[in-house]
Amino acid sequence: MRGLKIPYHVAIIMDGNGRWAQKRNLPRIEGHREGAKSVDDVVETARKIGVKYLTLYAFSKDNWKRPKEEVSALINLLRDYLKKEKERMKKNGIRFNVVGDIKDFPKDVQKQIKEVMEYTKDCEKMTLTLALSYSGKNEIVKAVKKIAQLVKKKKLSPKEICQELLQKLMGLPDVELLIRTSGEMRISDFLLWQISYAELYFTKKLWPDFRGKDLIKAIRWFSKRERRFGMTSEQIKKSEGEKT
Ligand code: FPP
Repeated sequence: MRGLKIPYHVAIIMDGNGRWAQKRNLPRIEGHREGAKSVDDVVETARKIGVKYLTLYAFSKDNWKRPKEEVSALINLLRDYLKKEKERMKKNGIRFNVVGDIKDFPKDVQKQIKEVMEYTKDCEKMTLTLALSYSGKNEIVKAVKKIAQLVKKKKLSPKEICQELLQKLMGLPDVELLIRTSGEMRISDFLLWQISYAELYFTKKLWPDFRGKDLIKAIRWFSKRERRFGMTSEQIKKSEGEKT
């Protein structure tokens, strides 16, 4: 992948499974099923090109409000995915990770998640994180509560509260490239803290149509972005020149 600047952390809001199915007069779950194939392809591509963190929004806290049948079909897809991918992840050096409230899932799924996380914990090529029963706002609230407890127990002084501490408590590194499929231009409570300086890439492609080659296209776009972090263009060019 010559000339490509590979983002360290790519996060994806996988949207449009329902519309993909609707367009074909299929039940919504067929869209999710096809979407799972996109997950396979995108994970494989991300790993091959050297993305270090890939985070996929697989189930939001609000998705529990969907019809029961759709929720259980999504949970079944997750069960199948974890069963099918466990060995492949280990073989390919993928560390499996989850953010969100896994306690909301049935016991067997919680167990499966923990097992795959434990089984792949020493893998170093890429960390694949699934956001499951996830809310960005809740994640921030949880970190704040932890801080409050530490302060109360006198293990932390309020003076020590800083960005780095919150970052550490939330776990995932800053996102460099955030992708959302299906043409919607919303963040939908995803990784609110971590996307503060992310480049945002929106595509009209529905998630089941988004494959590894589309990830490469997004990364090509990302490679051409000038990321200024509040500085001027001249300052950035100078600092890049100093690095080489
Ligand atoms: C959004 O499309 C997608 C989801 C809520 C679920 C994402 C799940 C998958 C991609 C499949 C399973 C994933 C794994 C990791 C096994 P939508 O249903 O909101 O689409 P719509 O906006 O067109 O209705």
